[in-house]
Amino acid sequence: VNSGTSALEIILRIVDVRDKPVLVPANTFFATAAAVTHAGGRPILMDTDERTFGTSPEEIERRLLPNVAAVVVVHVGGLITDRIAEIRALCDARGVALVEDAAHAHGSWLSGRHAGSFGLASAFSFYPTKVMTCGEGGMIVTDDAALASEARICRDQGKASFSRNQHVRLGYNWRLSEPHAIIGLRHLSRLASLVEQRRRVAALYDSGLTHIRQLAPVLTPAACSPNYYKYMVRIADDIDRQALKNTLKECHQISLSGEVYEIPLHKNAIFAGLDTGDLGHSERVCARHICLPLYASMSENEAERVIAGLSDLLNN
Ligand SMILES: Cc1ncc(COP(=O)(O)O)c(C=O)c1O
Repeated sequence: VNSGTSALEIILRIVDVRDKPVLVPANTFFATAAAVTHAGGRPILMDTDERTFGTSPEEIERRLLPNVAAVVVVHVGGLITDRIAEIRALCDARGVALVEDAAHAHGSWLSGRHAGSFGLASAFSFYPTKVMTCGEGGMIVTDDAALASEARICRDQGKASFSRNQHVRLGYNWRLSEPHAIIGLRHLSRLASLVEQRRRVAALYDSGLTHIRQLAPVLTPAACSPNYYKYMVRIADDIDRQALKNTLKECHQISLSGEVYEIPLHKNAIFAGLDTGDLGHSERVCARHICLPLYASMSENEAERVIAGLSDLLNN
């Protein structure tokens, strides 16, 4: 499909969330919740698990009213919660579709299983900032043959088949162009090595940051092998994030990466109505972390410069 957003919307239309609540994390990108609205559902925000930046089964259970149509989890920064099996079991027990927003998680693993293989269906994004890209694009992954077939119909104007103009669904032009697909396939062939290189940089950060006491990297659950789309670091309460970013840039020419996310969804004007007043962990997680620069071709020297810059500002 032509974007991660359309991948989400197509899945949610097939699940049929119309006029029903859908649980989505408060700590995610706009599109996760917007896709619910575009598919006719009502997003209900879930608070954030501070350990993984994702969602806990307890939080899902707390909001899982009988009419909820789907639960969307997001592998924030490429990290898959080690409680994803519990989340799937909970959704199955309640007869609710589990949808993975895997826009951050190409090539991330948990206990030998890829991101995208835990839910009924999952959505990937190939937006240029992602670990793999094709300019613009997206992908739906599912092992449900009926859902896959409906998704193909949806993405091509609701046509029952490619060659005839017989429309059986209110689909849309959500197709991916062939030139984009060619770029994506080429990038896909490099994904494993790109992820390996990202993990190498992350390991340098893991060991290099231990002596900066105001910083606490978000710990990777033992069974998880993330793609390090983001290297997320919690910051002490007395650190002014914006001032830290400005000084790192001015004094050390180091630009930090964008946060995931700097504010939770309900702090955006468009979603202010979704504020249930009990999303404090999301507000805290969003306000109290930074993301370090990380890219596959990053050298050891560059990673060490980042560590040295942070150490200079925070230890001295
Ligand atoms: C968590 C998340 N969900 C959905 C999307 C939407 O993907 P796209 O930009 O390809 O529509 C993105 C990224 O942009 C994202 O980060």
